[in-house]
Amino acid sequence: MGNINSNPGEVACHFSLLYTVDAKAHAYKMIDNSRPFNELGRYELIDFGNARKLERVCGRLIDRPSPAAEAQRRKHPNLWGDVDSFFDKQAKQWRHQSKWPEDSQMDCGGFVMPIQPTPFGHLGVFPEQAGNWKWLRQSSPVTSDAMSSPDEMPRGLNLFAYTGASSMAMASSGMSVVHVDAAKPNVAAARVAAGANGLSDHPVRYLVDDAAKFATREVRRERTYHTIVLDPPAYGHSPRGKAWRLERDLWPLLDQCVELLDRDSFRLLITGHSPQVGAPDVVDYLHAELPERLGVSPRQLTDQLEYDRLTLTDRSGRQLDFGFFVRLAINR
Ligand SMILES: C[S@@+](CC[C@H](N)C(=O)[O-])C[C@H]1O[C@@H](n2cnc3c(N)ncnc32)[C@H](O)[C@@H]1O
Repeated sequence: MGNINSNPGEVACHFSLLYTVDAKAHAYKMIDNSRPFNELGRYELIDFGNARKLERVCGRLIDRPSPAAEAQRRKHPNLWGDVDSFFDKQAKQWRHQSKWPEDSQMDCGGFVMPIQPTPFGHLGVFPEQAGNWKWLRQSSPVTSDAMSSPDEMPRGLNLFAYTGASSMAMASSGMSVVHVDAAKPNVAAARVAAGANGLSDHPVRYLVDDAAKFATREVRRERTYHTIVLDPPAYGHSPRGKAWRLERDLWPLLDQCVELLDRDSFRLLITGHSPQVGAPDVVDYLHAELPERLGVSPRQLTDQLEYDRLTLTDRSGRQLDFGFFVRLAINR
């Protein structure tokens, strides 16, 4: 299936929340997005604006860039004065009032993630994914007697897996995991995260690899997974320098992922952070492909598909938008 970018029925709702008017045969299920995701232990989005966000993370006040906040104005300029850590975008470096503690961790709800400032102004975790971690754990296909041997564990594949928060969400719920990311330091950080969760001996394979190439090889090996998570960047480069463009390259990768899904029971979680591709494009793709290829009925899709925007809510109740998510769980 090709790239489906045009959505004539798509209209803007509040906070750039999008939904598709039911011009086509299928109705899409919206989910309630009002619950703030920043109920996480040790994380709060305080304010945002002027292309930056102000957060409290592990007890530290942090001022760092946020492209999502570019068109916004700060609600509480007085709160931004005396921060513990500031990322200077021009100089591409952090300025800390005091040393960042080595052992900082964020409670992610059932697992923890180490928090360390990176040279890109990141912290090693994207808190806007909190709702997805919760879903991964709560709808886990693990049954209590499936824990006995790694071979019997439901299998999860995490593509573009970064430092492994979604891998930890799956592993901590008892799934075996294949963690794939093109950047070696991110894969190394995921191993550290496993250690922080007492999961060093849990069956997690850590692979430094190109997501699309790995998926193609797994299709050839006739492997299947019960959960596939993919969080591709809007654009980037594979380890060998091949350019990645979400609007062009997501669809062939999704074709491979559909091939890799277990026929009896599977979950699919797709997130994206580019204005070129929205949740309705992915929902359209799934409606076009899954009935024929996996025997999922349009009714099941309508009932089981959830999609919305990834957001964080600040102290004033304003939502900062980080892209879309689409989730599907099929159990037959
Ligand atoms: C948006 S981040 C993923 C964040 C992650 N889902 C999380 O919430 O923790 C994108 C990741 O994709 C990785 N990446 C970029 N291009 C890739 C490729 N072609 N193959 C595999 N990983 C890639 C980057 O190294 C980065 O870690």
